[in-house]
Amino acid sequence: MTNGSYDPPVWGDAAAPQAEIPDEYAPCAGIYDHIPLYKTRRDLPFYVTLAREFGGSVLELGCGTGRVSIPIARAGVPVVGLDVSAAMLNVFRLKLAAEPPDVAGRVRIVRSDMRRFRLAEKFPLITAPFRSFQHLLTVEEQKACMRNVRSHLAEWGRFVLDVSAPSFELLASQRVGETFEDADFTDPATGDRIIRLWRYVEIRRAEQINVVEFEYRRVSPDGTTRSNRHRISIRYFFRYEIEHLLEACGFRIEELYSDYDKSPFDGRKEMIAICRASG
Ligand SMILES: C[S@@+](CC[C@H](N)C(=O)[O-])C[C@H]1O[C@@H](n2cnc3c(N)ncnc32)[C@H](O)[C@@H]1O
Repeated sequence: MTNGSYDPPVWGDAAAPQAEIPDEYAPCAGIYDHIPLYKTRRDLPFYVTLAREFGGSVLELGCGTGRVSIPIARAGVPVVGLDVSAAMLNVFRLKLAAEPPDVAGRVRIVRSDMRRFRLAEKFPLITAPFRSFQHLLTVEEQKACMRNVRSHLAEWGRFVLDVSAPSFELLASQRVGETFEDADFTDPATGDRIIRLWRYVEIRRAEQINVVEFEYRRVSPDGTTRSNRHRISIRYFFRYEIEHLLEACGFRIEELYSDYDKSPFDGRKEMIAICRASG
């Protein structure tokens, strides 16, 4: 930190040591693609269609295991997947190794921070699917990312920001400590049954941040059980906050959707902004 502003290290294309940022996704990277809520997300046709319309080359920020990037490459569009998590990117690389060479050849993986990456090219489409942007907790971090996106966006390109729409009912009902179960599935690598539980461990309303702890309870085929836990901090955004942030960083919103079927924003479900440079 300098003068109270956020000053993350500058990382090149997967080169510099990156130990400073904790790998929040490491505990779940190996099973991420099998978690039913993620596996059944209905956003893939939306992103593949956009990629076909705008690619070029797509830059996906917070690409994780390549859940979205790989279908884009399969559709014939080159993609750069950027993520800070070594564990998520390792899964991405393993999946890519099983793809046909032409599909794998369309993908470049970059381990870097969406707030501070530097790439040599400009992109007609930059996306941040499935709430990756909500990992940026402060306004300084959010602006650093958006300004960085702006400088990597082709003149006529689009930035797609995809965050959740905060539900007022949910915000009002949140309590620290209450535990929910949201998944019960099998890890195909081990045959273990996995039950996922989650709870709020901190609700920082003044900062619009929730700290959520996930617990993965594994039951092996021989009946042995064990648990691992990890925490993720999530920032939520209100509609006009996002609009002001984007405007301050050189974007205007062309479309604002509530869902991947392009239904207009109504304050529910998702908040998907299709943005272009404002001039
Ligand atoms: C919910 S996952 C989404 C992954 C993928 N986009 C998908 O749709 O499945 C969020 C991803 O954002 C990544 N992430 C969080 N903070 C980041 C940062 N500062 N820079 C780059 N990636 C980041 C995490 O490592 C994680 O892989």
